[in-house]
Amino acid sequence: MNTMNRHSGQRLHARERLRRALTMATAAGLGTALLSGCGSQQFITMGDLASDYNKEIFWMSIWAIALSILIFVGVSYALFYTVGRFREDRNDAAPQQFHGNNRLETWLVVVPVIIVMVLSVLTVRSMAILNPVPAEATKIDVLGRQFWWNFAYPETKADAGGNVTNGNEMIMPIGEQVALTITSGDVIHGFWAPNIGGQRAAMPATLRSWNVDINRAGVYQGNCTQLCGASHANMRYKVVALEPERYASFLAAAKAYRAPEPAAGSAEARGYALFMQGKPETGALACAACHRVQGTPAAGVAGPDLSFFGTRRTLGAGMWEFMEPENHWETPRAREILHEWIKHSPLVKPGSLMPTYDGSEYRANGKLVKGGILTDAELDDVAAYLRSLKLPEEANYWSGTPVFGSQNTTGGTQ
Ligand code: CUA
Repeated sequence: MNTMNRHSGQRLHARERLRRALTMATAAGLGTALLSGCGSQQFITMGDLASDYNKEIFWMSIWAIALSILIFVGVSYALFYTVGRFREDRNDAAPQQFHGNNRLETWLVVVPVIIVMVLSVLTVRSMAILNPVPAEATKIDVLGRQFWWNFAYPETKADAGGNVTNGNEMIMPIGEQVALTITSGDVIHGFWAPNIGGQRAAMPATLRSWNVDINRAGVYQGNCTQLCGASHANMRYKVVALEPERYASFLAAAKAYRAPEPAAGSAEARGYALFMQGKPETGALACAACHRVQGTPAAGVAGPDLSFFGTRRTLGAGMWEFMEPENHWETPRAREILHEWIKHSPLVKPGSLMPTYDGSEYRANGKLVKGGILTDAELDDVAAYLRSLKLPEEANYWSGTPVFGSQNTTGGTQ
C-alpha cells in the first residue's frame, strides 16, 4: 500500500513536471508569436508546379535523378558482385592482371562520357526552352538595392511621366511568360520567388534577363538570396499574380494614376508639405529627395517608389505585413509601426539608409550624421499622406487575391 502510494506520487510528480514544461513551451511560443507580430509573415513555398518554369525543372530533375539511381544500382551491383566473387578465402591464387586491356579501358571512358552527355543534353534542352524571351512577354524591370526592390513596367509610360513603378510588390499577369530584366544599384542581391521560377543574381551595372510564370492567381513570397548586408533577411517582396483582366485594369489605373491632391488644411496636406520640402529649420530632410510619387514633383530614385503606398500591404521591404482585408493601414499596429518607421527606420531595420527624424544618428554615404527632427504630430501627418496614396479600388491588386504560405489565406474580400 505504502509503496503503491509512493509510486503513484512519483508518477504524479512526473506528470506535473511535463505539464509545467508544456505550459512554459506554449507561453514561449505565444511570446515569440506576439513579438513577431502574431507570426503573420508569409512563408516561402517551393515546388509549385503551377509554374511552367518549375514544371520544366521538375521533369528535368526527375530524369537526372532516375539516371543517378540507375548509376547507383549499377555501381553497387558491380561492387558487391566483385567483393563476393573474388573473396580472398575462395581465391588463393594471385589475381589476374588486366593492365593494357584496351576493350575494358575503352568502356570505362565511353560509359561516363555517355552519362555526362545525356545530362548535358537534358540541361541544354531545358535552357533552350526557358531562356529565350518571347516578343509578346510582359516586361518588368527589377532593381535590387540595400534593402528593398523596385518593379518598373518599361512598356507602360505613366500619363504623369516616368514608367509605372511599384516598390517591393511585383504585380504580374498569370498564364504567360513574364520577362524580367534584373539589376542591382549597389551590391549583389538575389531575386528569388520560388513559386514563379528559379533564382537569379541581381548584379550591379549588369542587366540580366530571366523569365518567370505562374498559372494560378495569388500572392507569393520573394526573398533576397545573396548575403548583402545587415538587412539581407529583411529584403523581401511580394509577387502578386493576377488574371489577365485584373492585371490589365491594374496597369491601366496605374498608368492614369496621379497621387490624390490633399484637401487644404488636412493632415494629408501638412504631410504632403513635409514630404516635399522637409523642415529645413530642424534639419528634417524631404522624403521627395529619395522617393518618387507619380503625379507629384517627388521623383527621387534613391529609395523605393511610393506612388501606391496606401494600396501596399507591406512595409520596410516586406519586414511587416498588414493583411487585414479592409483599412489595413488604420489598425493600431500598422499605425504604430509606420510611425516608428518614419521616425527612425535604421533603429527598427538594421542597415536601413533612410534618414532619421528624431535627431538620432544614421549612416549617410558611409558617415554617421545626425538626423533632423519632426514632432510626433508631424510624423503622423507624413504617415497620413502616405496612407492616402491609393490606387482606385478596381485596381487594388490585394483585394480578394489568395495569399499562399500564410495564416491569412486571402488578401480580403470586398
Ligand atoms: Cu539583398 Cu540579400
